[in-house]
Amino acid sequence: MSTLLDDTTTPGTAGTPAPAKKGPRDGAFGNARALACRECGHEVELGPSYACPECFGPLEVAYDFPAVTREEIAAGPRNIWRYKALLPVPTDIEQSPNTEPGFTRLLEAKNLARELGIDRLWVKDDSTNPTNSFKDRVVACALSAARELDAKVFACPSTGNLANAVAAAGARAGIPTVVFIPSNLETPKKVNSAVFTEKLVAVDGNYDDVNKLASEIAGEEEGWAFVNVNVRPFYAEGSKTLGYEIAEQLGWRLPDQIVIPVASGSQLTKVDKAFQELIKLGLVEDKPYKVYGAQAAGCSPVSVAYKAGTDAIRPVKPDTIAKSLAIGNPADGIYVLDVCRRTGGAVEDITDDEVRDAIVLLARTEGIFTETAGGTTVGVLKKLVESGQLDTSLETVVINTGHGLKTLDAISDRVGPVATIAPTYDAFAASGIV
Ligand SMILES: Cc1ncc(COP(=O)(O)O)c(C=O)c1O
Ligand SMILES: [Zn+2]
Repeated sequence: MSTLLDDTTTPGTAGTPAPAKKGPRDGAFGNARALACRECGHEVELGPSYACPECFGPLEVAYDFPAVTREEIAAGPRNIWRYKALLPVPTDIEQSPNTEPGFTRLLEAKNLARELGIDRLWVKDDSTNPTNSFKDRVVACALSAARELDAKVFACPSTGNLANAVAAAGARAGIPTVVFIPSNLETPKKVNSAVFTEKLVAVDGNYDDVNKLASEIAGEEEGWAFVNVNVRPFYAEGSKTLGYEIAEQLGWRLPDQIVIPVASGSQLTKVDKAFQELIKLGLVEDKPYKVYGAQAAGCSPVSVAYKAGTDAIRPVKPDTIAKSLAIGNPADGIYVLDVCRRTGGAVEDITDDEVRDAIVLLARTEGIFTETAGGTTVGVLKKLVESGQLDTSLETVVINTGHGLKTLDAISDRVGPVATIAPTYDAFAASGIV
């Protein structure tokens, strides 16, 4: 059942012509052509659909790209709309209120590289987005679609960061938001949503329960745009901008290797899609690159399947401090396996203790405070080096997807004052600190 007011036509009464079919305005989705099934290739028209009517496979946006030049992109705004020609958004998208995420820093991580024994390493730091995670990117694209489809409510099931981004973007756009989260989320993530929306709904259950509830609501309520359910194809395209930026910031070339956290797996697969598009458009040279996925051992269904050499991803019940990655039944898991195998990468997982160690490692080597998802990614990078799965002579990028202030509890027992002393020089001198 369609839940947005997309093409519903009121039947005409006798003698009265039916009103013209109401659909998205011309150019609402830029250069996007259709939604295409990732399994069978069947195409459906652009709208609030996410499952293939032929085989129930997931739909994703397909395009008729014009010639796009590096100069045109470079002349664009310093946010994700510089890539608007490659996204399902209108050409005047900058006019619409949004949080304007993107163009985050790509930092060369010399200290961490030395520590890990990697020749050349970069951190793509997406924690500096408006609500401090990469989710602002996907939400910006979903919001555009929701607006074009006349949605009345902007909503999501979330592991935390997405809720923050949806609530903030909806506030700025003036669209009512309702965000659903597992009730056991970290307090900072709850507050970071509740400050932007009066409708933060905590659900007694894990993310997979919340997601199921959201799908049910999407099937019942008219006019709701659930960013990662019924407008998911548009939402997911926002993640491509992370890949575009990395290539542009490296001087229009692809890295040799990239390590990306995996929850639903959408971000990882879209970075690969971005790299493939840049190659096809002639914006970067065609060269091999390896994609690695990172999970926490307490929720690692994709890593387990990778190691078992199977495509069958067994859903799990998450139990990890990496709550933003705690999706036990990942929608794009099978595509993650495909990308990592095709490119010669891997999927690896680490323990919660290793996640904590990696948070501190990144902070103390590069001055970047990451949340548990980034700890998972950096920790997996370390493990990949130690186990010989990653070629340390190749140029590597690791993505930090979220800010450490959102998951303080994860490491508050690990770090703190080295001593508590009286405010006197004698006390300092006696403390033996230096
Ligand atoms: C900080 C952070 N990193 C990574 C992810 C994983 O993204 P995906 O679901 O696209 O795999 C999430 C998902 O919520 C997240 O919040
Ligand atoms: Zn299909």
